Amino acid sequence: MDKVRLAIVGCGNISQLNAPGYLQHPKCEVVALCDTVRGKAEHRARQWGITPAIYTDYEQVLNDPAVDAVELLTPTFLHVDQILAALQAGKHVSCQKPMCATVEEADRIIAAAARAGATFRITENFLYYPPIVKAKELLDAGIIGEPSLVRLHTTRVEDIAEPAIERDPEAVVWRRDAALNPGGLLYDDGVHKYAVALYWIGEIERIMSMVNRSDAFMMEAPSAAIWSFKGRNCLGVLDYAASPNLVMRGRYVPVDEFFEIHGSHGVMWVTRCSGEMYDLPPVMVFKGAETQSYQVPMDWRLSFDGAAADFIDSLLAGRQPRLDAPTSKTILQIALAIYEAARTERPVRPDDVR
Ligand SMILES: NC(=O)c1ccc[n+]([C@@H]2O[C@H](COP(=O)([O-])OP(=O)(O)OC[C@H]3O[C@@H](n4cnc5c(N)ncnc54)[C@H](O)[C@@H]3O)[C@@H](O)[C@H]2O)c1
Repeated sequence: MDKVRLAIVGCGNISQLNAPGYLQHPKCEVVALCDTVRGKAEHRARQWGITPAIYTDYEQVLNDPAVDAVELLTPTFLHVDQILAALQAGKHVSCQKPMCATVEEADRIIAAAARAGATFRITENFLYYPPIVKAKELLDAGIIGEPSLVRLHTTRVEDIAEPAIERDPEAVVWRRDAALNPGGLLYDDGVHKYAVALYWIGEIERIMSMVNRSDAFMMEAPSAAIWSFKGRNCLGVLDYAASPNLVMRGRYVPVDEFFEIHGSHGVMWVTRCSGEMYDLPPVMVFKGAETQSYQVPMDWRLSFDGAAADFIDSLLAGRQPRLDAPTSKTILQIALAIYEAARTERPVRPDDVR
């Protein structure tokens, strides 16, 4: 294979950030768009200036021999069946997070991916965001010494100041359906933060939490979790706050992040990801009298471009792109452990969540 012929399945909100990385990749051709609402697929084809096959039935994508790989950007509750069907049809699969809703579904995906002659990955764009990658580089170089505490803070708002993409309100409807999702924000968005914790520090051992499951199901804020990392003298602290009347500076999604890592020799901040709330350099390191800032590229879309490039480049090189199925299951177990710890008011080990 010297080029990947890709079908994008689900032409809703996130496709606007997800697709450009594929459209600009010289070794990728977007040959098909699929959405149950034909008009959405046609709208994206016009926006992106392409003339792909347009499908309204996923089966048509899987039966199309011109499609090598699928990028699944559909509502999360559809992921498990769509992943299994694509692997069965011999298509390479990249699927947006979260992978699925239950550990049993995750196990079925792991087994199918291990059996398949095709590649499977979950798209985790945070792992390609240049400030997060820079922080990892600096951590590994020992710039702040041995990490002892990582704080992953998220602010959720209703509105952003300069929206650069369309926001279809339908995307909230399926997310708010408690019958279709094991949780709200700490599941749907939290998986990004658990992936960053694994990437920066390592596996999580034990979690305690308080989760606010208010009427605004998606909000789940204020909520907080605290955990220990396996084999490290290091804690993770996750917190979500809502500021519904704050119109946040940002262009893409109504969320803002601020991450802080304390180490034996200094402190590091990543001051932005999805939003642009804090008017600060994206990466800052504090070491006694010295403050160092790193002006790496910081447009949030770059995280999606990086994820797209990893999928295409990995397929062409015959290697496994991030995240593989077992890692995605671990991340799901962390989310589920947070809910269980809050419900039982006891510490929970993600490994024990079944
Ligand atoms: N990485 C991120 O930062 C990020 C951000 C937002 C969403 N996501 C993930 O992306 C996925 C989609 O989220 P969204 O916000 O774009 O949702 P959305 O509701 O805006 O888009 C989903 C699209 O899928 C279409 N669809 C529904 N059923 C279908 C089917 N059977 N076949 C084909 N198309 C179908 C819908 O018509 C819609 O256009 C979710 O899994 C979500 O968790 C990731």
